[in-house]
Amino acid sequence: MFNLILFGPPGSGKGTQSENIIAAYGLQHLSTGNLLREEIGNATPLGLEAKRLMDQGQLVPDEVVIGMVRNFIEARSAAKGFLFDGFPRTTAQCVALDALLKENGNEINIVLALEVSEEELVKRLLGRGLTSGRSDDTNETIIRARIKEYHDKTTAVATYYAQFNKVVHVKGEGTVDSIYADLKQEIDHKI
Ligand code: AP5
Repeated sequence: MFNLILFGPPGSGKGTQSENIIAAYGLQHLSTGNLLREEIGNATPLGLEAKRLMDQGQLVPDEVVIGMVRNFIEARSAAKGFLFDGFPRTTAQCVALDALLKENGNEINIVLALEVSEEELVKRLLGRGLTSGRSDDTNETIIRARIKEYHDKTTAVATYYAQFNKVVHVKGEGTVDSIYADLKQEIDHKI
């Protein structure tokens, strides 16, 4: 099994690059943001509570997200591997993910960290907000709150995996194709 974390701040291109990578390597795409938006779309109690936090740019509680990830992985036990997009986002989520993978003798093989300047992130997300219908993209205050949450809680994920020498930093500015070529080179080196 090959397991990859595509890491980076909101708007760094995780979702965009995930599409190319899962197609090329046959990985299962696990985006916790997409799973939460499905819950919101279905108006479940979990979705209603998640929406309240997401609309303020805040993270959803670890136990909620970890439960969703466990269900997703257990339902795909024959997978060749997973691409984790937007997860883990806290040190507690890293520890839970490692434990979950270890139950079947697996681990995270590489963490690809996309690096994009804050002004470019804001520009991209405001641009997407014009058409995406994502309520957390429409307003610069919420976007900056998401970026702050990333700095306060999520950069710790890179620190956590750096202690195992699993983090590779990749420039996330340029064309989608050129960034994909850089990511692919790192994956091919590791796989
Ligand atoms: P989530 O859905 O994960 O959103 P995010 O991390 O804020 O990331 P985005 O989807 O906004 O950006 P992205 O990096 O995927 O970039 P994209 O490819 O879309 O999370 C949303 C919320 O859910 C969180 O705030 C939190 O509340 C909650 N949540 C989710 N996971 C959680 C967890 N694990 N724990 C707790 N809470 C959690 O690209 C963005 C835009 O840029 C697009 O318009 C795209 O076309 C454009 N773009 C992409 N690449 C380029 C490029 N190279 N040049 C120019 N434009 C580009």
